[in-house]
Amino acid sequence: MATYGTYTGTGTGTGTGTGTGTGTGTGTGTGTGTGTGTGTGIDAGAGPAARTASGFPACVKIVEVGPRDGLQNEQQTIPAEIKIALVDRLTAAGFVNIEAASFVSPKWVPQMATSTEVMARIARRPGVVYSALVPNMKGFEAAAAAGVGEVVIFGAASEAFSQKNINCSIAESIERFRDVAVAAKAHGLRLRGSVSCAFGCPYQGAVAPAAVADVVRRLRELGCDEIDIADTIGVATPALVKTVMPAAIGEFPVERLSGHFHDTYGQALANIYASLEAGITIYHASVAGLGGCPYAKGATGNVATEDVLYLMQGLGIDTGIDLDAVVDAGQFISQFLGRAAVSRAGNALAAKRRNAAAA
Ligand code: HMG
Ligand code: MG
Repeated sequence: MATYGTYTGTGTGTGTGTGTGTGTGTGTGTGTGTGTGTGTGIDAGAGPAARTASGFPACVKIVEVGPRDGLQNEQQTIPAEIKIALVDRLTAAGFVNIEAASFVSPKWVPQMATSTEVMARIARRPGVVYSALVPNMKGFEAAAAAGVGEVVIFGAASEAFSQKNINCSIAESIERFRDVAVAAKAHGLRLRGSVSCAFGCPYQGAVAPAAVADVVRRLRELGCDEIDIADTIGVATPALVKTVMPAAIGEFPVERLSGHFHDTYGQALANIYASLEAGITIYHASVAGLGGCPYAKGATGNVATEDVLYLMQGLGIDTGIDLDAVVDAGQFISQFLGRAAVSRAGNALAAKRRNAAAA
């Protein structure tokens, strides 16, 4: 059994962190912690009370979403072997959760049509959860056959976006998700729910925190293990975060809520900082800042994983992830795409290496 915060999972936790926890023991964790044990790896139970000297959580979980949320938005067809190589690099970097695929209609998102092949050929590391988006039972059957560890049902706090993205109302989406949720539980799979447009919608504009709370409640009732509060179009600011996150926390345990921020207006790191202050300990990020949603006009990429890791490092918050290896992964996929990574920290660290090599 591995624990993360107060969530008790069924994975084979293999913490790799070095001890930074205060008040709950220190040491190098190898993943059998019980919340007050000696392991400090992300899945090894540093315990909910562990804090840095400045009061932040001693460790956070970073969910790498680049292979799905990032690549889904690319116009050029990306061969499965590139996606597989990217996921393998991210696995080696130490993520405990990677969103690797999406079992949606290939007519709606052609880039994700290789998801079965990707899931079949990645080099899986025990204890790592590989997640995939699943909009309906057709998607669930494909995802389960492909061996995903976590099914992500994705709803929205905005009616207009729900229609554009999954062709149904919020209420209809919850009914579709009900069957998926039951099937996921029956297969012993983790279930995650995503709330898109929680901070604003490209079609209807403002979204009320009460609408976010309402969808969070409905996803909780479906049995979600984790729920993402997503800024799909990257319009949030810290003040809005301080309004929306408490609304979500009112409906779902804070340690199982995540922040999913896009960086369209350059506010993503500030929003993560505000979310940390609100008690959120799970963050989504995308290597090289890849990303966007084909059904959310104007949205740019997710916050870059390299930038988030640099922030966490500076705050003394353990992620269990090798930043250098993520920089490599970011350079790898950016070279394939033929453009620079959209990560200030990633590009700065890569330049520093080049300068050191040239000196
Ligand atoms: P629909 O057209 O209403 O569905 O689409 P349908 O049931 O009428 O089926 C139409 C066709 O799609 C049929 O094929 C189905 O078999 C097929 P046909 O008979 O025409 O040949 N189909 C499927 N094929 C493969 N896998 C499936 C599947 N389902 C139906 N699962 C549907 C409804 C939900 C399928 C569609 O709207 C869809 O796939 N939408 C996905 C859109 C999407 O992936 N958006 C991006 C992800 S969300 C996001 O990025 C936001 C997030 O990151 C958080 C954030 O930032 O906010 C999560
Ligand atoms: Mg997204």
